[in-house]
Amino acid sequence: MSEILRVAVGLGDRAYDVLVGRGALAAARAELVAHFPRGRAILVTDRTVAALHLDTVSAHLAAAGLRVEPVIVEPGETSKSWAGLEAVVDAFLDLNIERSEAVIALGGGVIGDLTGFAAAVTKRGVNFIQIPTTLLSQVDSSVGGKTGINTRQGKNFAGSFHQPGLVIADRDLLATLPGRERRSGYAEIVKAALIGDAPLFQQLEAAGADVLDGTGLDAAVAAAIAFKARIVAADEREAGVRALLNLGHTFGHAFEADAPRDAIRHGEAVAVGTALAFAYSVHRGDCRADDAARVIAHLRTVGLPASPGELAHADWDAASLVARMRDDKKNRDGHITLILARAIGDAFIDPAVDEADLLTFMETQLS
Ligand SMILES: NC(=O)c1ccc[n+]([C@@H]2O[C@H](COP(=O)([O-])OP(=O)(O)OC[C@H]3O[C@@H](n4cnc5c(N)ncnc54)[C@H](O)[C@@H]3O)[C@@H](O)[C@H]2O)c1
Repeated sequence: MSEILRVAVGLGDRAYDVLVGRGALAAARAELVAHFPRGRAILVTDRTVAALHLDTVSAHLAAAGLRVEPVIVEPGETSKSWAGLEAVVDAFLDLNIERSEAVIALGGGVIGDLTGFAAAVTKRGVNFIQIPTTLLSQVDSSVGGKTGINTRQGKNFAGSFHQPGLVIADRDLLATLPGRERRSGYAEIVKAALIGDAPLFQQLEAAGADVLDGTGLDAAVAAAIAFKARIVAADEREAGVRALLNLGHTFGHAFEADAPRDAIRHGEAVAVGTALAFAYSVHRGDCRADDAARVIAHLRTVGLPASPGELAHADWDAASLVARMRDDKKNRDGHITLILARAIGDAFIDPAVDEADLLTFMETQLS
């Protein structure tokens, strides 16, 4: 077992810890028990993760004296739906869940978001534990309490803020993760560094592509989680500073929305979106060109796309992408809000960008 790093999310009576590193599951056994007074753990996972990791995780829970009741859903975004939510809540109720017992989300961001929302609404709220199994869910989605599902109107359009009671980010669970998923999750570490942790970005640059494997990853994951934890503690419900965490996401969501389903990974869209946020900041005179060049170079070093043409789907239309950006949840009073940068590690919120200028910029980027 390597050293287990512990990051505290300081939210008063909803505070919790994130355990990071190889062997975090074994290290967490004792503190897990308190969440399961009935000696059983209802655990939601998807079919892929169940085949790879359910036996191991169940063995850890058994060693803590807990019996597992698995609830298995299909992998992918289609489970993050009203039908998926109904199936999971029904499963909890059929198992006679009591409000005193927690449920476990074992999987990527889809499972965490779905299980967290199901936990939030079951019997007006039961606790939940996150055991994230993708790099994206370890560094980002398992921390901060945003839960939800997609509706026919858009992604994450129904949901709630419901904080987990504990997050266990065990690197051993990432061993089976395909390289493309690993790189996609890594984009969120880069994003965190670029928003407000310039030293972390320097460390990532220095490690180069090696940061995706080995023990260096634990420190980068813990640093990204600690950064997110500070922002969440300052602004749990995104009234202000938490919006910074959306660096690259307004551009990114537009690419995701305009691409065929499953053609590009969320982190790939975020990587391109982050590069565009820096390029647009340079275009406006907010940021130096060499900072944007460093961002783009690092993304390419680790094998992430850094321009729209590098995404697997490349048939983009600037007007359509800007129209998608107008639909973003962050927008107020009909204006497009963008997270932009003054420098590496210094992002800011522009609540009303000039849409005509943005369209010209996007046309140039796509030409
Ligand atoms: N709540 C938040 O704050 C937040 C933040 C970012 C993203 N999200 C959400 O997270 C979701 C994306 O999460 P994701 O990228 O983890 O996708 P995912 O949950 O769909 O997982 C990706 C794929 O990897 C498989 N998988 C999971 N763990 C594995 C493992 N260890 N080995 C092999 N395969 C494994 C899954 O079965 C799935 O097919 C999106 O729905 C997004 O909206 C939420």
